[in-house]
Amino acid sequence: MLTTRFFAALECLLAPCGIVASSLQIQPYSPLEPLPPSRDPFYTAPHGFEKTAPGTILRIRHAPGNITSVVANASAVYHIVYRTTDSNYKPSFAVTTLFVPFGNVTAGTNSSQSSLLSIQIPYNSVWVDASPSYAIYYDFAQPAFGAGSTNDDTSHALGKGWFVNMPDHEGPAASFAMGITEGHATLDSIRAVLSSRLLPATTHTKYAMWGYSGGSIASEWAAELQEQYAPELSFSGMAIGGCVPNMTEARDNLTGTAYAGLLPGMYLGLTSEDEDARAYLVSRLKTSGPYNASAFLADLKLTVTQAFAAYANQDLYAYFVNGRADLEAPVLTNIGARNSYQGYHGVPQMPTFVYKAIGDEFSTVRSTDALVERWCGINVDVEYQRNTVGNHITEIGNGKQRALNWLGGIFDGTAIVGGCSVQNVTVDVTSSVS
Ligand SMILES: *[C@@H]1O[C@H](CO)[C@@H](O)[C@H](O)[C@H]1NC(C)=O
Ligand SMILES: *[C@@H]1O[C@H](CO)[C@@H](O)[C@H](O)[C@H]1NC(C)=O
Ligand SMILES: *[C@@H]1O[C@H](CO)[C@@H](O)[C@H](O)[C@H]1NC(C)=O
Ligand SMILES: *[C@@H]1O[C@H](CO)[C@@H](O)[C@H](O)[C@H]1NC(C)=O
Ligand SMILES: *[C@@H]1O[C@H](CO)[C@@H](O)[C@H](O)[C@H]1NC(C)=O
Ligand SMILES: *[C@@H]1O[C@H](CO)[C@@H](O)[C@H](O)[C@H]1NC(C)=O
Ligand SMILES: *[C@@H]1O[C@H](CO)[C@@H](O)[C@H](O)[C@H]1NC(C)=O
Ligand SMILES: *[C@@H]1O[C@H](CO)[C@@H](O)[C@H](O)[C@H]1NC(C)=O
Repeated sequence: MLTTRFFAALECLLAPCGIVASSLQIQPYSPLEPLPPSRDPFYTAPHGFEKTAPGTILRIRHAPGNITSVVANASAVYHIVYRTTDSNYKPSFAVTTLFVPFGNVTAGTNSSQSSLLSIQIPYNSVWVDASPSYAIYYDFAQPAFGAGSTNDDTSHALGKGWFVNMPDHEGPAASFAMGITEGHATLDSIRAVLSSRLLPATTHTKYAMWGYSGGSIASEWAAELQEQYAPELSFSGMAIGGCVPNMTEARDNLTGTAYAGLLPGMYLGLTSEDEDARAYLVSRLKTSGPYNASAFLADLKLTVTQAFAAYANQDLYAYFVNGRADLEAPVLTNIGARNSYQGYHGVPQMPTFVYKAIGDEFSTVRSTDALVERWCGINVDVEYQRNTVGNHITEIGNGKQRALNWLGGIFDGTAIVGGCSVQNVTVDVTSSVS
């Protein structure tokens, strides 16, 4: 539990910012269930926030409602609003959730070290009300994809004594699959948490990232952008799975499949921070027939699960007057060039664990092979496991324990890192437990 000394320390630390200092007391716990982000004034930035440095805490509250009944092993949970930078390099803000473990957990911990795992969730939605800080209470408490619930992963990490940071990395415009926005929001969430004084001041904090699929987009972009944008950060590691290095390839792989529901969001995300691009996109949508503008734009208020159901097996291009050609306009491809292809902005400055099913049908293993090969060529420290079993969905479950084991080794110092290793593995957790 926080003492008043902690509150005082937080205010002293942040007072020099002046502009936003009055909003910085930790807002008290409310037992009421949270409002959706679109209707909750907490999810706004205070006046003058643009003048603060990226990563500055703008608001903080005890996470409301029945949070500790949906996530086990947390002694306290906070929501933090912080300053970040959008894909146009304009000031923006985002919200993160910080979970604090119980102090009595000693397994795998070192008394002079704290461990902070930043989990980037594949929420894959262009609806701000699908953001993790809110979904924890609802969707994340439900089992998904035969691999347990998202909240189970958080509880598991907390049970190891790790702090967990979980940014709403798509930001307030729900900019799904926007590399720069997501990378910045992830880096700034970690800056915010490290400056919050909610981690023990007496210990050294090791921090690492973990993301699968849509979550790996945020983690990977954070790693690409870190050296330029947040050079003071020093990550101990990153685990990414189901990587999507090339969104155009993923688009072409997903259209017409059971997971085509990701595609309206891919384009609504890409246009979420550019009015001209959004206006163009909307202008190219058909206005009649089954594949029309209102059906496409309905995605603006769907969670990823709802979008999978709404658009299953649909042809993305059928929504557009001139089909696929409409998506080749420079007003869209220019944004894509900056945000949709990994491996062009920078390279991870941390040991990296990459896992991918060879049979991944969302994004070819070849595109991840190429990314890793490029990293290996310039001495990035990477361990890459290609699973001979399964596909994008089964690798969520097949990869989970491998990622957590690797991260555990990073935190406790037992991971063997250094160099470049590429191996084929055969891991089939899902069939052995079903
Ligand atoms: C938490 O509250 C929400 C909304 O009232 C409810 O749907 C959910 O079942 C509750 N969860 C638990 C574990 O009590
Ligand atoms: C730590 O303390 C909490 C609260 O008293 C309790 O629920 C939890 O089981 C304890 N954990 C361990 C590992 O002893
Ligand atoms: C404990 O953590 C500190 C800080 O990270 C590190 O210097 C030290 O080597 C660790 N001790 C052990 C036994 O791992
Ligand atoms: C909570 O942590 C304990 C270890 O301290 C672990 O055994 C348990 O599985 C965790 N709970 C969940 C739901 O992961
Ligand atoms: C991405 O994939 C598309 C479709 O396969 C391909 O044409 C393009 O060259 C790829 N772009 C990059 C940067 O790898
Ligand atoms: C995915 O896209 C790549 C490149 O465009 C293509 O070679 C591959 O066959 C596609 N895979 C599937 C399953 O559609
Ligand atoms: C738009 O598409 C939806 C879903 O196919 C359909 O129900 C609706 O009638 C269509 N609207 C128009 C104006 O054609
Ligand atoms: C891994 O499997 C691929 C086929 O997907 C094969 O071409 C390659 O040689 C294998 N690599 C190793 C290191 O065994």
